[in-house]
Amino acid sequence: MAQSITITDNRSGESVEIPIDNGGVDASSWQKLLPGIWFFDPGMMTTAVTESSITELDGDAGILRYRGYPIEQLAEKSTYLEVTYLLLHGELPTKEQLDAWTFDITHHTFIHENMRKRFMEGFHYDAHPMGMLVSAIAALSTFYLDAKEIHDPAVRMRQIIRLIAKVPTLAACAYRFSVGLPFVYPDNSLPFASNFLSMMWRTEPNFEPDPILARAMDVLFILHADHEQNCGTTAMRVVGSSHADPYSAAAGAAAALYGPRHGGANEEVIKMLTSIGSMENVDAFVSDVKAGRGRLMGFGHRVYKNYDPRARIIKQTADEVFTVTGKNPLLDIALKLEEVALGDEYFTSRRLYPNVDFYSGLIYQAMGFPIDMFTVLFAIPRTSGWLTHWQELLEQDQKIARPRQLYTGTGARDYVTLDQRS
Ligand code: ACO
Repeated sequence: MAQSITITDNRSGESVEIPIDNGGVDASSWQKLLPGIWFFDPGMMTTAVTESSITELDGDAGILRYRGYPIEQLAEKSTYLEVTYLLLHGELPTKEQLDAWTFDITHHTFIHENMRKRFMEGFHYDAHPMGMLVSAIAALSTFYLDAKEIHDPAVRMRQIIRLIAKVPTLAACAYRFSVGLPFVYPDNSLPFASNFLSMMWRTEPNFEPDPILARAMDVLFILHADHEQNCGTTAMRVVGSSHADPYSAAAGAAAALYGPRHGGANEEVIKMLTSIGSMENVDAFVSDVKAGRGRLMGFGHRVYKNYDPRARIIKQTADEVFTVTGKNPLLDIALKLEEVALGDEYFTSRRLYPNVDFYSGLIYQAMGFPIDMFTVLFAIPRTSGWLTHWQELLEQDQKIARPRQLYTGTGARDYVTLDQRS
């Protein structure tokens, strides 16, 4: 059978046959047949906005692969910095390449002193750290004026390295400021995740992050590094398509991540579990959700219609973290909630399963992160995914993103002066 579709314009009887390529049909082909008729797709539910060779996601099968490598294998055997190399370069590094890459990232972790003193310390004392991070990422563009040279691959890579390296420093800086603790400078003798934990928690010179917690942090970074065309990455591509510098584009992506329907969901999960309060209240809570009063946060996904493979790994990581921190008291409520939801026709018929955010917040909370840092913890590794897509977009020389609308407002009318309006 031909791998194609045929579209017929019933007004003229004309048809066009369009081949199905890589699971998609080329919209420019029907545009020739249907000029001025737009494909109506709010939320881009059925639109592929790009070709991409970075991350493969099969939501029905519960598969996630970076550059072909299954997420389960990367989480077990790799490190976050190796994964950033893989994402950006398409291949796993050799030993020499990894050493050079690690050196480069490690030696770009410092932020300009004015960034800390003038910018970060200018925020109100109770500023949300994610709001601080979004603004700080954008402000970095004012420190690196060469960032505008987006067509020079070497300059591009310099900004990529800076952003991957500096976002954890900004994240920890936002946290320390919000609790009134002094800024901790990066310690370049430490690996990436340990350095971040050190900038977060160091209060004495010989502070050493627990290796189990540092590894858990690294695994969480791997799991969150990329997830193809999600809301934040799409924002990155849209802003990047205007040829804005990568700091401005990444700030746009981080702003998208901030929302409770996206990266803000892990924060909402803890609020939800806390408000449920005890296992006895789970059934009543689920009934409320089914009656349309609220959502089960950390459940459901636009693409996964099966168990999110990252949620499975995170559940394991949680067990390891709890051996060090003690069990998060909300875990029992979460487990019961999952059990009730997965046994309920409302959730199974809609194919709603736990997503990456359902258990990640429990780990973060057990490790001592306040809940308003959770989305910040997501933004740190996702920065590498955003930048990989930004690089791909520029290499593809994609056109500026400019969708259409179907106008449904009033027709033309004459201006009415203020004294004549009723
Ligand atoms: N709890 C209860 N019902 C839900 C949930 C949920 N978490 N998610 C979806 N539904 C229901 C909807 O009410 C709808 O039911 P209906 O068909 O009777 O109207 C149906 O399932 C389909 O839901 P949509 O909102 O159309 O699905 P969509 O793909 O647009 O939304 C989303 C996906 C935003 C993730 C949604 O599932 C949700 O809000 N989940 C909770 C928030 C969350 O955990 N977000 C994190 C996602 S992962 C990430 O971004 C990193």
